[in-house]
Amino acid sequence: MTDSANPLEIEQDTPEAQSYRSALEVISGVEPRIADAIRSEINDQRNYLKLIASENYASPAVLLTMGTWFSDKYAEGTVGHRFYAGCQNVDTVEQLASDLACEVFGAPYAYVQPHSGIDANLVAFWAMLAAKVETPFLAEQGEKHVNGLSETDWDTLRNKLGNQRMIGMALDAGGHLTHGFRPNISGKMFAQRSYGVDDTTEMLDYDNVRALAKEFKPMVLTAGYSAYPRKVNFAKMREIADEVGAYLMIDMAHFAGLVAGGVFTGDYDPIANGHIVTTTTHKSLRGPRGGMVMTGRDGGDLAEYIDKGCPMVLGGPMAHVMAAKAVAFAEAKLPTFAGYAQRIVDNAAALGEGLKKRGARLVTDGTDNHLVLVDVTSFGVTGRQAESALNDSGVIVNRNSIPGDPNGAWYTSGVRLGTPALTTLGMGAADMDEVADIICDVLSHAEPAQAKNGPSKAKYLMGDDVSDRCRQRSAELLTANPLYPTVGKI
Ligand SMILES: Cc1ncc(COP(=O)(O)O)c(C=O)c1O
Repeated sequence: MTDSANPLEIEQDTPEAQSYRSALEVISGVEPRIADAIRSEINDQRNYLKLIASENYASPAVLLTMGTWFSDKYAEGTVGHRFYAGCQNVDTVEQLASDLACEVFGAPYAYVQPHSGIDANLVAFWAMLAAKVETPFLAEQGEKHVNGLSETDWDTLRNKLGNQRMIGMALDAGGHLTHGFRPNISGKMFAQRSYGVDDTTEMLDYDNVRALAKEFKPMVLTAGYSAYPRKVNFAKMREIADEVGAYLMIDMAHFAGLVAGGVFTGDYDPIANGHIVTTTTHKSLRGPRGGMVMTGRDGGDLAEYIDKGCPMVLGGPMAHVMAAKAVAFAEAKLPTFAGYAQRIVDNAAALGEGLKKRGARLVTDGTDNHLVLVDVTSFGVTGRQAESALNDSGVIVNRNSIPGDPNGAWYTSGVRLGTPALTTLGMGAADMDEVADIICDVLSHAEPAQAKNGPSKAKYLMGDDVSDRCRQRSAELLTANPLYPTVGKI
């Protein structure tokens, strides 16, 4: 291969290329349509600029670790205490993943079994409920286990468990469904109130959170977000939680990579400020699809309850994914990961500046994390139209509500842009300026199509010349910063 050759167009002879070629040959022998879908997926991922803030590209080492026989093993329980025989290798994997997570985040304790972020949050909620409600109730009744309770006492306990309160960030302010919203099980378990953002600055208003907490007196104050473009002062949130005797639960699913990479420290560090911290492992942290729960400051008493994720809300852990989490945490421990995390934030800032100077309005007027929230009504389209027009032009984003969104949660008025994936490809600030230019080129040419009763909120019109031009420009960026170059042609 010469230096100038495109690595994605030639057959490579690297271990990664050999592994994937062989794997696809084996899969093809059983179900060729799935092998084809796998090929299509990498080709699509290579042909679009990925700006989905919750996605990334895991390393071949992480991905390959998942395709192993650990998938076959049942291992309900915890390290050394399993309900199944033959778990010695799963024990090795789970212990290593947990130890590495503790090292990466400076956490006293890490539970690496949750299959996803929603599972991690469920484990955390039920650990807090067990510590605060179930254990004291059992002690009052002189029982050690729920199975020892009479039917009447069991009913009383179930009512108490279902009668607790929590506070979370409003959905249109960037919060997440799992933080007590009615369509999610968390909203059916807890009575919930949400805090929003300041009407003018669109920033989190800590006085408002404090006033709400004092009035509502929750058992859990939840911090964390999926579409808020600013960092959160967790030390202030902890002060508020302490004032009302609540647990502070921090869901760092989106920004765990920035914590691991040392971008969010001190007052902004979840572990140093939260009692309990949950995360996904597949977003900015760049690991396999999965979740994790850790204890933070003064959260030590929760560890024994977190450990009961199984049988509480989980069955058998996915040992192949726990193994891949360990590999990802080993990568996050490398000094290069800190550089990666800083570049994510620098790239988001550069992207935000590039958009602003071309006339886009950003929610909160900027960013200090990995994401930018663009109010696309500044271009005369809905979030849904912007998402489609960008997708047709080689740029993958997702539409998102903005604070007080006039277009509601389906059509929305925003698009959320995140930089973890493009940063993994090696793009820098100058590339972000080009990405901003492509996005503004698309959005300034897209307009609502006409529906029967006036302008459509879903369909858009735009000249083919614009989408062709922008797809070409996106392709140039991707050729210069290829995805999985060591895997080569697939
Ligand atoms: C803040 C937050 N918590 C939890 C989740 C749920 O994660 P998962 O999709 O892995 O269940 C997400 C996913 O988007 C998230 O953004």
